[in-house]
Amino acid sequence: MNGEADTTRWDASTPVTVDLRLSVNRDEYPITVDTRETLLDTLRERLDLTGAKKGCDHGQCGACTVLVDGRRVKSCLTLTVTLDDREITTVEGLADGDAPHPLQTAFVDHDAFQCGYCTPGQLCSAVGMLAEAAAGWPSVVTPDMSAAPRLDDDEIRERMSGNLCRCGAYVNIVAAIGEVAR
Ligand code: FES
Ligand code: FES
Repeated sequence: MNGEADTTRWDASTPVTVDLRLSVNRDEYPITVDTRETLLDTLRERLDLTGAKKGCDHGQCGACTVLVDGRRVKSCLTLTVTLDDREITTVEGLADGDAPHPLQTAFVDHDAFQCGYCTPGQLCSAVGMLAEAAAGWPSVVTPDMSAAPRLDDDEIRERMSGNLCRCGAYVNIVAAIGEVAR
């Protein structure tokens, strides 16, 4: 070094942006994103889709769960820049017009929430979980890995263990999901 500024060094304070076409709940959003931006922040702060919640922002609570191409992801750990042309579904997109998703109806019928903060993540996670089970994916409590998983309460609890509920509505959440699974 000769004492002059090294202009070849990357400056972390300068955002790097990328143009994307996001598809969320069947709507298209042409958007320019900072490559460090999480999907949760894009949804909540820029698209005004505030259903997914920021509980921990560290991948630990599941309140931010959404679906990407039908599979559940924690949006606080997912960089938006990776989602060009992927199909994102949030809790706002689960209903079919005015008809709630069967899981939404079951959550109401079983009183499966108290404050409701975790509920959008629980619902999206349950949708993804039911698809995983229908595709034959075992969990660590599946007794017979070669047979189609049967969604009893133990299976549902295990498969939903990434979604915490600080109100402790677990018993009713399991009952609601169990009804839809049957
Ligand atoms: S906010 Fe994403 S897991 Fe808690
Ligand atoms: S209903 Fe309050 S955190 Fe789950």
